[in-house]
Amino acid sequence: MTTKPIALACDHAGYPLKEELKKHFDAAGVAYVDYGTDSLASVNYPDYAHKLCTAIQEGNHELGILVCGTGIGMSMAANKHKGIRAAVLSDTFSARMTRMHNDANVLCLGARVVGGGLAADIADLFISTDFEGGRHVARVEMLNQLD
Ligand code: RB5
Repeated sequence: MTTKPIALACDHAGYPLKEELKKHFDAAGVAYVDYGTDSLASVNYPDYAHKLCTAIQEGNHELGILVCGTGIGMSMAANKHKGIRAAVLSDTFSARMTRMHNDANVLCLGARVVGGGLAADIADLFISTDFEGGRHVARVEMLNQLD
């Protein structure tokens, strides 16, 4: 489990779900840093993916959560950053497996796809599951070489 705060960011479509996740983390005592956006006013998701991924690349966070309408645009933007392995998730099994096998470091959620309760469960599993290592190390290193 990471000892660093979780990085959060969203676009306008993801804003309501990001705020729900913050309430969930506040209640659970999970530390986070919010990189915006801070309202429903229209913004461009690549800008917020870039802010969050840069903060991870700089070592301020090990894990981040990006929220847009579908999670897809955020994941496309995030995966263009060196060292970022972003996964769009809408189920808890994949949340666990992508940490264990892919060492995913960014969770992308679709606010128009998943409800707040499921998103919170996915986020909890994502941040509490450790990379399994072993046979997966070489495969993740192969991913890194594609950066
Ligand atoms: C915004 O309308 C929407 O396109 C965006 O949030 C995201 O879903 C893109 O992938």
